[in-house]
Amino acid sequence: MVKAASNKITKIKQQFPILQQEVNGKPLVYLDNAATSQKPQSVIDAITNYYTKYNSNIHRGAHYLAEQATIEYENARTKAKEFINAESDMLVNFTKGTTEGINLVAQSFGNTFLEEGDEILLSAMAHHSNLVPWQIIAEQKKCNIKYIPVLEDGTLDMDAFHLLLNKKTKVVSLGYISNALGTINPVEEIIEASHTFGAAVLLDAAQAAPHLKIDVQKLDVDFLAFSGHKMYGPTGIGILYGKEKWLTEMQPYQGGGEMIKEVTLKGTTYNELPFKFEAGTPNICGGIALGAAIDFMNEVGHDFIQKQENEVLAYGTEALSNIKNLHIKGQAKNKAGVLSFIIKDIHPYDIGVLLDKMGIAIRTGHHCCQPLMDAWEIPGTARASLAVYNTKEDIDRLVEGIEKAKIMLQ
Ligand code: ALA
Repeated sequence: MVKAASNKITKIKQQFPILQQEVNGKPLVYLDNAATSQKPQSVIDAITNYYTKYNSNIHRGAHYLAEQATIEYENARTKAKEFINAESDMLVNFTKGTTEGINLVAQSFGNTFLEEGDEILLSAMAHHSNLVPWQIIAEQKKCNIKYIPVLEDGTLDMDAFHLLLNKKTKVVSLGYISNALGTINPVEEIIEASHTFGAAVLLDAAQAAPHLKIDVQKLDVDFLAFSGHKMYGPTGIGILYGKEKWLTEMQPYQGGGEMIKEVTLKGTTYNELPFKFEAGTPNICGGIALGAAIDFMNEVGHDFIQKQENEVLAYGTEALSNIKNLHIKGQAKNKAGVLSFIIKDIHPYDIGVLLDKMGIAIRTGHHCCQPLMDAWEIPGTARASLAVYNTKEDIDRLVEGIEKAKIMLQ
């Protein structure tokens, strides 16, 4: 079994040209997947094919190339719909990425539904992209923001969540999986409880889309945003799912071409969903390549991805725990893909720089979660984050690298 799995991993890894190189004279070990994953050849080919064979604007040209591009782009939307089990293509909006998806909901939902004195409930472990857009709309609409605290093990304080939720809560917005810690939040419980108070729930699924099988209907989530580039696709493309009852009522986020039905000098009527929220020429190539990334994940299989990553995560957790003076931040039982750690008396940045010299790529810093780091009174962490192509051998290289770095720094 293990042998078969490792053969499969070898074949998967061979599909990623970038992983075949040496960095600083050592075979590259890429452990910065929560920041962005690498791209398989099929995704690179989808990009090359688009620009060499059928680059054109979509939904408007009366010629062959425009028709091809439109078909491929809309096919990718259907793939994304199936990827998250949305009810319909019209609820699947292409965006620039998770950040744009959250900004879209904060502004469009906020301007349509929020009123003075309403409450927005966020998490204290959130990425800045799920804090700042809400702080902006809260100021504009004179709403109050409450934060679900984070416990020492990196899980949400669910007792506090239930106490914070009340009939003034209009939106609950949080990460499905924490990018800084890997905690898988109890989103089913949060969605169900929020709905009993009539609050809409947005999930930032940027870290969940590469690791978990997502089913928006089963979750009964109101909005879900994710990015292509963390799930083997390109940067500059993402998906925002929304329930029809909200998207129909929400005012557009941006104005421009494509999102209109009719424009006169007196005013404008808006296009039907999903185009109402897709002003301007989109990232056509990115959308098509995201479709190729979804094909890649489907071919590898969600069960395999989860099993492989969980095995490497468990192996890595044990291996790192055995390193003297190293403390793993984020010890939730339900975790995915992230090993965030600090080492006594060593700045995370120094560890990152020395690991890079050994060909090992990790991220260091606050991971766009400054409030979480402030609450824990640490400058940041060193973070190794996994994708399906990572192996136990990668973890061995990481551990060896950390031990060497410790000797140099202590
Ligand atoms: N949000 C990305 C990360 O966690 C950039 O690294």
